[in-house]
Amino acid sequence: MSAPWVWGEVSVDTVQVETTRECNLKCKGCLRTVRNRSGNWTNSRMRADLFALVLSNLPPCRILILNGTGEPMLNPDIASIVGLARASGKFEAITFNSNGLTADIAAYEALAQAGLSFLSISVDSLTQAVADVVRRGTKVEKLAVRLKELSATLSIPLTVTTVVSQDNLLDVPETLARLNDLGRFTVYLTDLSDVELLEGRAASGQVLDRQGRMLLTSLVEKSRGQFPHLDVILTQPTQREGERCPAPFRHPFIDAEGFLAPCCTLTDAHYYGRISIAQTPLVEALKMPMPDRWLADYAKAEPAACQGCQHAIRSA
Ligand SMILES: C[S@@+](CC[C@H](N)C(=O)[O-])C[C@H]1O[C@@H](n2cnc3c(N)ncnc32)[C@H](O)[C@@H]1O
Ligand code: SF4
Repeated sequence: MSAPWVWGEVSVDTVQVETTRECNLKCKGCLRTVRNRSGNWTNSRMRADLFALVLSNLPPCRILILNGTGEPMLNPDIASIVGLARASGKFEAITFNSNGLTADIAAYEALAQAGLSFLSISVDSLTQAVADVVRRGTKVEKLAVRLKELSATLSIPLTVTTVVSQDNLLDVPETLARLNDLGRFTVYLTDLSDVELLEGRAASGQVLDRQGRMLLTSLVEKSRGQFPHLDVILTQPTQREGERCPAPFRHPFIDAEGFLAPCCTLTDAHYYGRISIAQTPLVEALKMPMPDRWLADYAKAEPAACQGCQHAIRSA
Protein backbone atom coordinates (compact mmCIF):
# COMPACT_ATOMS: atom_id res chain seq x y z
CA MET A 1 0.00 0.00 0.00
CA SER A 2 1.36 3.47 -0.86
CA ALA A 3 2.06 6.01 1.91
CA PRO A 4 -0.80 8.40 2.74
CA TRP A 5 -0.80 11.65 0.80
CA VAL A 6 0.50 14.68 2.74
CA TRP A 7 -1.18 18.12 2.34
CA GLY A 8 0.79 20.38 0.02
CA GLU A 9 2.72 17.59 -1.69
CA VAL A 10 2.35 17.15 -5.46
CA SER A 11 1.32 13.56 -6.15
CA VAL A 12 -0.79 13.17 -9.26
CA ASP A 13 -3.79 10.88 -8.86
CA THR A 14 -5.99 12.05 -11.75
CA VAL A 15 -5.19 14.03 -14.88
CA GLN A 16 -7.90 15.82 -16.79
CA VAL A 17 -7.32 16.60 -20.46
CA GLU A 18 -9.78 18.85 -22.28
CA THR A 19 -10.26 17.13 -25.63
CA THR A 20 -12.51 19.85 -27.03
CA ARG A 21 -14.03 23.21 -26.09
CA GLU A 22 -16.84 22.89 -28.66
CA CYS A 23 -20.37 22.09 -27.55
CA ASN A 24 -23.90 21.61 -28.86
CA LEU A 25 -25.59 22.86 -25.65
CA LYS A 26 -25.71 26.11 -23.71
CA CYS A 27 -25.95 24.99 -20.09
CA LYS A 28 -26.75 27.93 -17.81
CA GLY A 29 -23.98 27.27 -15.28
CA CYS A 30 -21.25 26.27 -17.73
CA LEU A 31 -18.09 28.35 -18.11
CA ARG A 32 -18.40 28.05 -21.89
CA THR A 33 -21.92 29.54 -21.96
CA VAL A 34 -20.96 32.41 -19.66
CA ARG A 35 -17.72 33.27 -21.50
CA ASN A 36 -19.35 32.92 -24.91
CA ARG A 37 -21.79 35.64 -23.89
CA SER A 38 -18.94 38.07 -23.38
CA GLY A 39 -17.12 36.89 -26.53
CA ASN A 40 -14.41 35.38 -24.37
CA TRP A 41 -14.31 31.80 -25.61
CA THR A 42 -12.50 29.89 -28.35
CA ASN A 43 -13.72 26.53 -29.60
CA SER A 44 -10.30 24.86 -29.62
CA ARG A 45 -10.13 21.11 -30.22
CA MET A 46 -7.26 18.77 -29.35
CA ARG A 47 -6.17 16.63 -32.30
CA ALA A 48 -4.84 13.13 -31.76
CA ASP A 49 -1.29 14.20 -32.69
CA LEU A 50 -1.26 16.93 -29.99
CA PHE A 51 -2.76 14.46 -27.51
CA ALA A 52 0.02 11.95 -28.31
CA LEU A 53 2.65 14.58 -27.38
CA VAL A 54 0.79 15.48 -24.18
CA LEU A 55 0.37 11.80 -23.33
CA SER A 56 4.10 11.18 -23.67
CA ASN A 57 4.60 13.78 -20.90
CA LEU A 58 1.99 12.47 -18.44
CA PRO A 59 2.97 10.39 -15.41
CA PRO A 60 1.28 7.05 -14.79
CA CYS A 61 -1.71 7.72 -12.55
CA ARG A 62 -5.03 6.32 -11.41
CA ILE A 63 -7.52 8.10 -13.66
CA LEU A 64 -7.40 9.98 -16.96
CA ILE A 65 -10.48 12.15 -17.60
CA LEU A 66 -10.88 13.16 -21.24
CA ASN A 67 -13.19 16.15 -20.90
CA GLY A 68 -12.87 19.72 -19.75
CA THR A 69 -15.45 22.28 -20.77
CA GLY A 70 -16.91 21.01 -24.03
CA GLU A 71 -18.50 17.88 -25.44
CA PRO A 72 -15.86 15.18 -26.11
CA MET A 73 -18.06 13.30 -28.60
CA LEU A 74 -17.80 16.30 -30.95
CA ASN A 75 -14.08 15.59 -31.37
CA PRO A 76 -13.67 13.30 -34.42
CA ASP A 77 -10.35 12.08 -32.93
CA ILE A 78 -11.88 10.94 -29.63
CA ALA A 79 -11.64 7.19 -30.40
CA SER A 80 -7.97 7.57 -31.44
CA ILE A 81 -7.31 9.58 -28.27
CA VAL A 82 -8.87 6.89 -26.07
CA GLY A 83 -6.93 4.20 -27.97
CA LEU A 84 -3.62 6.05 -27.52
CA ALA A 85 -4.29 6.53 -23.81
CA ARG A 86 -5.16 2.87 -23.34
CA ALA A 87 -2.14 1.66 -25.35
CA SER A 88 0.17 3.78 -23.15
CA GLY A 89 -0.68 1.55 -20.17
CA LYS A 90 -0.32 4.60 -17.88
CA PHE A 91 -3.81 4.70 -16.39
CA GLU A 92 -5.91 2.41 -14.23
CA ALA A 93 -9.04 3.94 -15.73
CA ILE A 94 -9.96 6.26 -18.61
CA THR A 95 -13.28 8.08 -18.60
CA PHE A 96 -15.18 11.25 -19.48
CA ASN A 97 -18.53 12.97 -19.12
CA SER A 98 -20.75 13.42 -22.13
CA ASN A 99 -24.11 15.08 -22.69
CA GLY A 100 -25.24 11.99 -24.60
CA LEU A 101 -26.84 13.92 -27.42
CA THR A 102 -24.45 14.13 -30.36
CA ALA A 103 -23.40 10.53 -30.99
CA ASP A 104 -25.21 7.22 -31.34
CA ILE A 105 -24.65 4.15 -29.20
CA ALA A 106 -22.33 2.61 -31.81
CA ALA A 107 -19.94 5.55 -31.31
CA TYR A 108 -19.95 5.03 -27.53
CA GLU A 109 -19.41 1.30 -27.94
CA ALA A 110 -16.47 2.03 -30.28
CA LEU A 111 -14.91 4.01 -27.43
CA ALA A 112 -15.48 1.12 -25.04
CA GLN A 113 -13.66 -1.13 -27.50
CA ALA A 114 -10.86 1.45 -27.84
CA GLY A 115 -10.28 1.31 -24.09
CA LEU A 116 -12.66 3.65 -22.27
CA SER A 117 -13.18 2.19 -18.78
CA PHE A 118 -16.48 3.84 -17.87
CA LEU A 119 -18.70 6.66 -19.10
CA SER A 120 -20.81 9.25 -17.32
CA ILE A 121 -23.78 10.92 -18.98
CA SER A 122 -24.80 14.33 -17.61
CA VAL A 123 -28.51 14.54 -16.82
CA ASP A 124 -29.63 17.53 -14.81
CA SER A 125 -33.31 16.96 -15.62
CA LEU A 126 -35.57 14.83 -17.78
CA THR A 127 -38.39 17.39 -17.52
CA GLN A 128 -38.25 19.46 -20.71
CA ALA A 129 -39.16 22.78 -19.05
CA VAL A 130 -36.41 22.36 -16.44
CA ALA A 131 -33.84 21.14 -18.97
CA ASP A 132 -34.63 24.22 -21.08
CA VAL A 133 -33.43 26.32 -18.13
CA VAL A 134 -30.41 24.34 -16.93
CA ARG A 135 -29.12 22.55 -20.04
CA ARG A 136 -30.46 24.59 -22.94
CA GLY A 137 -30.59 22.64 -26.18
CA THR A 138 -31.32 19.30 -24.51
CA LYS A 139 -34.12 17.28 -26.09
CA VAL A 140 -35.13 15.22 -23.08
CA GLU A 141 -36.91 12.45 -24.98
CA LYS A 142 -33.85 11.93 -27.20
CA LEU A 143 -31.69 11.82 -24.07
CA ALA A 144 -34.06 9.34 -22.40
CA VAL A 145 -33.92 6.97 -25.40
CA ARG A 146 -30.11 7.27 -25.51
CA LEU A 147 -29.86 6.46 -21.79
CA LYS A 148 -32.10 3.42 -22.17
CA GLU A 149 -30.10 2.13 -25.16
CA LEU A 150 -26.75 2.75 -23.47
CA SER A 151 -27.88 1.09 -20.25
CA ALA A 152 -29.03 -1.95 -22.22
CA THR A 153 -26.07 -2.33 -24.56
CA LEU A 154 -22.89 -0.50 -23.49
CA SER A 155 -20.19 -2.99 -22.53
CA ILE A 156 -18.59 -0.71 -19.91
CA PRO A 157 -20.09 0.74 -16.70
CA LEU A 158 -22.37 3.72 -17.23
CA THR A 159 -23.05 6.35 -14.59
CA VAL A 160 -25.10 9.55 -14.50
CA THR A 161 -23.87 12.93 -13.24
CA THR A 162 -26.55 15.33 -12.06
CA VAL A 163 -25.52 18.87 -11.18
CA VAL A 164 -27.98 20.27 -8.66
CA SER A 165 -28.80 23.97 -8.38
CA GLN A 166 -31.78 26.03 -7.21
CA ASP A 167 -33.19 25.57 -10.74
CA ASN A 168 -33.56 21.78 -10.63
CA LEU A 169 -33.53 20.95 -6.89
CA LEU A 170 -37.26 20.27 -6.63
CA ASP A 171 -37.18 18.26 -9.86
CA VAL A 172 -34.52 15.82 -8.55
CA PRO A 173 -37.07 13.17 -7.39
CA GLU A 174 -38.71 13.26 -10.84
CA THR A 175 -35.32 12.90 -12.55
CA LEU A 176 -34.51 9.91 -10.33
CA ALA A 177 -37.92 8.33 -11.04
CA ARG A 178 -37.40 8.66 -14.80
CA LEU A 179 -33.86 7.30 -14.63
CA ASN A 180 -35.07 4.35 -12.58
CA ASP A 181 -37.51 3.50 -15.41
CA LEU A 182 -34.79 3.78 -18.07
CA GLY A 183 -32.12 1.43 -16.75
CA ARG A 184 -29.69 0.67 -13.96
CA PHE A 185 -27.47 3.62 -13.03
CA THR A 186 -25.22 4.94 -10.32
CA VAL A 187 -26.27 8.59 -10.08
CA TYR A 188 -23.77 11.11 -8.73
CA LEU A 189 -25.50 14.25 -7.48
CA THR A 190 -23.09 17.15 -7.36
CA ASP A 191 -23.26 20.86 -6.51
CA LEU A 192 -23.15 23.61 -9.11
CA SER A 193 -20.05 25.81 -9.13
CA ASP A 194 -20.89 29.49 -9.47
CA VAL A 195 -19.17 30.55 -12.68
CA GLU A 196 -20.24 34.18 -12.16
CA LEU A 197 -18.26 34.26 -8.90
CA LEU A 198 -15.34 32.47 -10.54
CA GLU A 199 -15.36 35.21 -13.17
CA GLY A 200 -15.15 37.84 -10.42
CA ARG A 201 -18.77 39.03 -10.76
CA ALA A 202 -21.69 38.98 -8.30
CA ALA A 203 -22.99 35.56 -7.28
CA SER A 204 -25.57 34.08 -9.65
CA GLY A 205 -27.86 32.95 -6.84
CA GLN A 206 -28.23 29.55 -8.52
CA VAL A 207 -25.98 27.58 -6.18
CA LEU A 208 -27.62 25.57 -3.37
CA ASP A 209 -27.43 27.27 0.01
CA ARG A 210 -27.26 25.32 3.25
CA GLN A 211 -31.04 24.91 3.33
CA GLY A 212 -31.03 23.68 -0.27
CA ARG A 213 -28.31 21.15 0.52
CA MET A 214 -30.26 19.91 3.52
CA LEU A 215 -33.37 19.54 1.37
CA LEU A 216 -31.36 17.65 -1.25
CA THR A 217 -30.01 15.33 1.44
CA SER A 218 -33.50 14.59 2.71
CA LEU A 219 -34.87 14.07 -0.84
CA VAL A 220 -32.09 11.54 -1.46
CA GLU A 221 -32.73 9.80 1.87
CA LYS A 222 -36.45 9.55 1.05
CA SER A 223 -35.64 8.13 -2.40
CA ARG A 224 -33.70 5.20 -0.93
CA GLY A 225 -35.69 2.02 -1.48
CA GLN A 226 -38.01 3.85 -3.89
CA PHE A 227 -35.75 3.44 -6.93
CA PRO A 228 -34.41 -0.13 -6.96
CA HIS A 229 -32.45 0.36 -10.21
CA LEU A 230 -30.48 3.34 -8.92
CA ASP A 231 -27.55 3.77 -6.61
CA VAL A 232 -27.73 7.46 -5.66
CA ILE A 233 -24.58 9.12 -4.32
CA LEU A 234 -24.32 12.66 -2.97
CA THR A 235 -20.77 13.68 -3.83
CA GLN A 236 -20.67 16.74 -1.59
CA PRO A 237 -21.50 16.53 2.10
CA THR A 238 -24.25 18.78 3.45
CA GLN A 239 -21.66 20.74 5.43
CA ARG A 240 -17.94 21.01 4.79
CA GLU A 241 -16.70 24.00 6.74
CA GLY A 242 -12.97 24.46 6.76
CA GLU A 243 -12.00 21.52 4.58
CA ARG A 244 -9.51 22.38 1.80
CA CYS A 245 -9.68 20.92 -1.70
CA PRO A 246 -6.54 18.97 -2.70
CA ALA A 247 -7.17 19.11 -6.48
CA PRO A 248 -4.23 21.36 -7.50
CA PHE A 249 -1.81 18.84 -5.94
CA ARG A 250 -3.66 15.73 -7.06
CA HIS A 251 -5.77 16.55 -10.12
CA PRO A 252 -4.12 18.92 -12.62
CA PHE A 253 -5.87 20.07 -15.79
CA ILE A 254 -4.56 20.36 -19.36
CA ASP A 255 -6.55 22.52 -21.75
CA ALA A 256 -7.47 21.75 -25.36
CA GLU A 257 -4.29 23.49 -26.56
CA GLY A 258 -2.10 21.40 -24.27
CA PHE A 259 -1.45 24.05 -21.59
CA LEU A 260 -1.34 23.24 -17.88
CA ALA A 261 -3.81 24.71 -15.34
CA PRO A 262 -4.38 24.10 -11.61
CA CYS A 263 -7.59 22.04 -11.62
CA CYS A 264 -10.91 21.36 -13.34
CA THR A 265 -12.33 24.65 -12.06
CA LEU A 266 -9.29 26.92 -12.56
CA THR A 267 -8.76 25.94 -16.18
CA ASP A 268 -6.95 29.02 -17.48
CA ALA A 269 -3.36 28.54 -18.63
CA HIS A 270 -2.31 31.98 -17.33
CA TYR A 271 -2.22 30.79 -13.68
CA TYR A 272 0.92 28.79 -14.51
CA GLY A 273 2.34 31.03 -17.26
CA ARG A 274 1.17 28.94 -20.25
CA ILE A 275 3.34 25.86 -19.88
CA SER A 276 2.79 23.37 -22.71
CA ILE A 277 2.57 19.74 -21.65
CA ALA A 278 3.29 18.83 -25.28
CA GLN A 279 6.80 20.13 -24.54
CA THR A 280 7.37 19.62 -20.80
CA PRO A 281 6.73 16.56 -18.62
CA LEU A 282 3.84 17.32 -16.29
CA VAL A 283 5.72 16.49 -13.10
CA GLU A 284 8.61 18.79 -14.13
CA ALA A 285 6.16 21.52 -15.15
CA LEU A 286 4.61 21.55 -11.66
CA LYS A 287 8.08 22.25 -10.23
CA MET A 288 8.70 25.26 -12.50
CA PRO A 289 8.75 28.67 -10.76
CA MET A 290 5.17 29.87 -11.49
CA PRO A 291 3.33 26.64 -10.63
CA ASP A 292 5.63 26.03 -7.66
CA ARG A 293 4.88 29.52 -6.26
CA TRP A 294 1.16 29.24 -6.99
CA LEU A 295 0.97 25.84 -5.27
CA ALA A 296 2.94 27.07 -2.24
CA ASP A 297 0.48 29.98 -1.87
CA TYR A 298 -2.47 27.62 -2.38
CA ALA A 299 -1.13 25.34 0.36
CA LYS A 300 -1.23 28.24 2.82
CA ALA A 301 -4.70 29.65 2.06
CA GLU A 302 -7.62 29.28 -0.32
CA PRO A 303 -7.20 31.93 -3.06
CA ALA A 304 -10.02 34.27 -4.08
CA ALA A 305 -10.07 32.49 -7.44
CA CYS A 306 -11.66 29.48 -5.71
CA GLN A 307 -14.74 31.43 -4.66
CA GLY A 308 -17.70 29.91 -6.41
CA CYS A 309 -16.14 26.46 -6.82
CA GLN A 310 -18.28 23.60 -5.56
CA HIS A 311 -15.21 22.27 -3.73
CA ALA A 312 -14.26 25.52 -1.98
CA ILE A 313 -14.62 25.92 1.79
CA ARG A 314 -18.23 26.68 2.71
CA SER A 315 -18.98 29.36 5.22
CA ALA A 316 -22.73 28.64 5.43
C1 LIG B 1 -18.33 20.75 -18.37
S1 LIG B 1 -19.12 19.26 -18.75
C2 LIG B 1 -18.17 18.62 -20.08
C3 LIG B 1 -18.65 17.29 -20.59
C4 LIG B 1 -19.98 17.27 -21.28
N1 LIG B 1 -20.17 18.34 -22.17
C5 LIG B 1 -21.11 17.15 -20.30
O1 LIG B 1 -21.90 18.07 -20.18
O2 LIG B 1 -21.18 16.10 -19.65
C6 LIG B 1 -18.63 18.18 -17.43
C7 LIG B 1 -19.57 18.16 -16.26
O3 LIG B 1 -19.48 19.39 -15.60
C8 LIG B 1 -20.77 19.79 -15.25
N2 LIG B 1 -20.78 21.23 -15.07
C9 LIG B 1 -20.86 22.21 -15.98
N3 LIG B 1 -20.88 23.41 -15.42
C10 LIG B 1 -20.80 23.18 -14.09
C11 LIG B 1 -20.78 24.03 -12.95
N4 LIG B 1 -20.87 25.35 -13.06
N5 LIG B 1 -20.69 23.44 -11.74
C12 LIG B 1 -20.64 22.11 -11.59
N6 LIG B 1 -20.63 21.26 -12.63
C13 LIG B 1 -20.73 21.80 -13.86
C14 LIG B 1 -21.64 19.30 -16.39
O4 LIG B 1 -23.00 19.25 -16.07
C15 LIG B 1 -21.04 17.95 -16.63
O5 LIG B 1 -21.61 16.98 -15.80
S1 SF4 C 1 -22.98 20.08 -22.35
FE1 SF4 C 1 -21.21 20.22 -20.99
S2 SF4 C 1 -19.73 21.55 -22.03
FE2 SF4 C 1 -21.68 21.75 -23.08
S3 SF4 C 1 -22.56 23.59 -22.24
FE3 SF4 C 1 -23.33 21.83 -21.04
S4 SF4 C 1 -21.89 21.55 -19.34
FE4 SF4 C 1 -20.94 22.92 -20.83
